[in-house]
Amino acid sequence: MKRISIKQSLVIIVSVAFLAIEFSACHKTNSNQNLQTEMIAELGRKLFFDSSLSNPGGQSCATCHSPSTAFSDPFHNIVSPGISPGLFGNRNAPTAMYAKFNPPLHYSIPDSAYVGGLFLDGRVNTLEEQAQKPFLNPLEMGNTDATMLVTKLQSSINYNFYIQIYGPVTDVNTAFSNIANAIATFERSDTLNAFTSKYDYYLKGQATLTPSELRGLNLFNDTLKAMCVNCHLTSPDPASGKILFTDFSYENDGVPPNPYNPYYTIPASYNPLGHSYIDLGLGDFINDSDNYGTFRTPTLRNVALSGPYFHNGCFGTLEEVVHFYNTRDSSGSGFAIPEYAATIDHAETGNQHLSAQDEADIVAFLKTLTDGYQP
Ligand code: HEC
Ligand code: HEC
Repeated sequence: MKRISIKQSLVIIVSVAFLAIEFSACHKTNSNQNLQTEMIAELGRKLFFDSSLSNPGGQSCATCHSPSTAFSDPFHNIVSPGISPGLFGNRNAPTAMYAKFNPPLHYSIPDSAYVGGLFLDGRVNTLEEQAQKPFLNPLEMGNTDATMLVTKLQSSINYNFYIQIYGPVTDVNTAFSNIANAIATFERSDTLNAFTSKYDYYLKGQATLTPSELRGLNLFNDTLKAMCVNCHLTSPDPASGKILFTDFSYENDGVPPNPYNPYYTIPASYNPLGHSYIDLGLGDFINDSDNYGTFRTPTLRNVALSGPYFHNGCFGTLEEVVHFYNTRDSSGSGFAIPEYAATIDHAETGNQHLSAQDEADIVAFLKTLTDGYQP
């Protein structure tokens, strides 16, 4: 054993002690940061479920985005009722899960196409921006301005917890940003980005697909026949490395108008066009007729829970959706004429030559995308 002098050992003791302090200080900062993020997400969760923040009270984000239906409308409404009686938005409430992966709306030169953005027409770019909108939308939570919302926050049971994180409200705009930041932080948490479907376990070798599910997966991936994968990607998204079932591109699937959409009947001050209203999607937002009637390709994760389907909720079941993709363009298909026809992608959708068994297999595969599978 090599002997060391007292002086040497002192140096060692001091430097070890120093290292230990350094290490724990460093460690502390990280865990403090994590703790802070976890607390903000927890506040966000509480605010997401806080139904005292609408005008009048009674509606929260979760009213239209419930965990029981993958953060979409738990009542499977075509479009969800707003808090004011008789008022409805124009679109079906999509899942709020996996929304964090949407890149900001941009024009992709290699694809010669628009990509990304939140809402089905890409009109906001961040979860923070998005989270502010429903609070002030007269067809949703109905606050007349941010001051009204922040006043409600100050009388909410969640205000004490808000103060623990952000301190008491001193200025409305800062408080409005803090609310949005907390909700967005919750939306970025694992709760809304679980990746625990049967398909995820299958990819890890921890679950076996049934023969029907497996045939469905192969058909889904078949770029010459069903072509689902052309837009609903099954390869990892380059930015996140995750399989998200969307390339975030905008397409017109030729969906028929939904005559039962109550938006047609709301007062003319909100929908001046009444029954002749046509949802022009991205094209309306960017004022570009080449994109009239196009909507962002949604993720298909948890799609079995989030019906009815498409921007106007016009199909109630996955069976109908797949049958529609397969036969829309074949004569005698029986589907009503599209809501907006000029920009339909006939090359990739509408005539997939699938048998009834193929359709059933694709539906079986789509049902493996529901989170919470126990391998
Ligand atoms: C009255 C029903 C309703 C309420 C309340 C509501 N939403 Fe939504 N949400 C919708 C609808 C409908 C859309 C799609 C609207 C569109 O594309 O124009 C949507 C879209 C979204 C999206 C974008 C999803 C995507 O794929 O682009 C997120 C995220 C979201 N909502 C979160 C929230 C949050 C957070 C709250 C509370 C602050 C909230 N919603 C309140 C109905 C609602
Ligand atoms: C050309 C791109 C494209 C192809 C190919 C495609 N989809 Fe889609 N898919 C979309 C777009 C865009 C939407 C939303 C359209 C809308 O709301 O009007 C959508 C919506 C859906 C929905 C409804 C999701 C929801 O939450 O409402 C399902 C289910 C779906 N697609 C499954 C499939 C299947 C299965 C295939 C293959 C048979 C397929 N898609 C092929 C682009 C595509």
